[in-house]
Amino acid sequence: MTNVLEQVPWNPGQYGKFAHERNRPAMDLMARIPVANPGQIIDLGCGAGHQATALADRFPMARVLGIDSSAEMLEQARSTYGDRDRLQWRAAQVETFTPDTPVDLIFSNAALQWVGGHETLFPRLVSWLNPGGVLAVQIPDNFDAPSHRIMRETADNGPWAARLAGVRRGMPVRDAAFYYGVLAPHAQQLDIWETTYIHVLAGRDPVAEWTKSTGLRPFLSALADDAARDAFYDDYAARLRDAYPSEPDGHTLFPFRRMFMVAVI
Ligand SMILES: C[S@@+](CC[C@H](N)C(=O)[O-])C[C@H]1O[C@@H](n2cnc3c(N)ncnc32)[C@H](O)[C@@H]1O
Repeated sequence: MTNVLEQVPWNPGQYGKFAHERNRPAMDLMARIPVANPGQIIDLGCGAGHQATALADRFPMARVLGIDSSAEMLEQARSTYGDRDRLQWRAAQVETFTPDTPVDLIFSNAALQWVGGHETLFPRLVSWLNPGGVLAVQIPDNFDAPSHRIMRETADNGPWAARLAGVRRGMPVRDAAFYYGVLAPHAQQLDIWETTYIHVLAGRDPVAEWTKSTGLRPFLSALADDAARDAFYDDYAARLRDAYPSEPDGHTLFPFRRMFMVAVI
């Protein structure tokens, strides 16, 4: 299966602008992993490698494999953390990857929203685990938030509308009951929760700067090498200012809801 969204390059520099805020839910997820000594760990959609490295540090006996489809992200992971015996990086699509041997922990932070078919994906992930293994996933659940609603509205209302008509509007994220239904039959323990982070952002148009490296990428990419791209971005950023006004001290509050699930199989 070709993931069209993944043909749009990731920019680790832009993504890393909010590294602290983006890493926080990953650390909150990691804190809830109820295993003492996993042997094999996979980080799906490992990006620039921060969490795979944190997992290797937390579990000193484990071998950690970071999987990502982005050459740019993997290059960043390699150059920051290197390849070590216990910590390796591999270019692969989640859709077609299968581990060589069963694993004890599958971790995935803010990546599986880019992968379709969760009704078959999640059972497939479960099938990779040893008995007692853990699936720990965090996915954004903010696709109806102003940041994303206004993205779609801007795309549909401007001279760029025809060129953006084919860009996928939604993400394949489902509700908590869906993930419960898929995971509960396999799980001895299942913990699902949601948290809305109120990120305090600095700088000009910080919400547009945030989405520029994630949800906005496919739209910007469809307008690449064109003045329309800047005009689209400026229009989007201007529309966001009403939805995310500046506080008196100049900061902007960005509420961001995320769903977490930890299943022990
Ligand atoms: C939002 S970033 C999150 C990166 C990292 N997990 C983190 O939290 O910092 C999403 C990552 O998922 C990767 N990704 C998206 N779709 C993928 C796919 N189908 N297969 C493998 N990786 C994918 C992207 O390349 C990107 O590095």
